[in-house]
Amino acid sequence: MALTAWAAGALLAFAAAGLLQRLKITRYRVILPNMKGTRPVRLLLLADLHGKRWGKGQRFLLNAARAQQPDAVVLAGDMTEAGHSYQPVIELARGLTSIAPVFFVAGNHDLLTFDCDAFTHALEKESVVSLRDQSIPLRVRDETITLSGLDDPFIAFIREWEDTDANYEERLREVSAADGPSPRVLITHRPEYAVLYARAGYHLALCGHTHGGQVRLPPPLRGLYASGQGFFPRYAAGEYRVNGMHMIISRGLHQSVTRPRFFNRPEVVAVDMVKEASS
Ligand SMILES: [Fe+2]
Repeated sequence: MALTAWAAGALLAFAAAGLLQRLKITRYRVILPNMKGTRPVRLLLLADLHGKRWGKGQRFLLNAARAQQPDAVVLAGDMTEAGHSYQPVIELARGLTSIAPVFFVAGNHDLLTFDCDAFTHALEKESVVSLRDQSIPLRVRDETITLSGLDDPFIAFIREWEDTDANYEERLREVSAADGPSPRVLITHRPEYAVLYARAGYHLALCGHTHGGQVRLPPPLRGLYASGQGFFPRYAAGEYRVNGMHMIISRGLHQSVTRPRFFNRPEVVAVDMVKEASS
């Protein structure tokens, strides 16, 4: 009897720990070529909010963002979704732009609203920079970083273009055409095309979309399922090296009973880009 009670207690504790949804801050440090300064450049990666509100006026998320003192914030897609008000994202954008410059690319769910241009315009009114299929030089202190953004391949379906994958590669080629010695960083929603990003010459790709695989499993499985990759996805969450390129995937900020997370806390990701140590 005592053993049964102990087992039930242990099971309950395990379930409670697994279902814990408190916001987590995850930090990474990546060495990029051609960085000049002694101070890291910090990017904050937020993805897959899916219209969720983290406290009144997004205060939990904004407090977490402010505490990281980022040099720039990147919104890597699926910030909203069909049937949701833009308002939680607008509140977030308003707060974030008072902290650092903010850049946005569209994820599949932003596009599935069938109103992503209006959503982008609403973000731009809050001083968010649309990086949809564009590259810009991001200047932070004495560093210049080429920051590129690429919309989700789903846009080909929305705009009734022919071949989704060919179109994605074509847009990637155009966005990555910028030349020069700067470190090259790509913001895009989907991690599963990592080989293409590396081939396009990026040093770092920042992605979302996977929600960490929803259920975190012990290595080497790591994630249970990710849309676009299926069960036991190769790219689920965290840091990867793909043909020399760094890739960091956020677990996202979404929570819902229809897509439950287990041992998979929503996260704000801070990425410090640093110079190679001189030999
Ligand atoms: Fe997505």
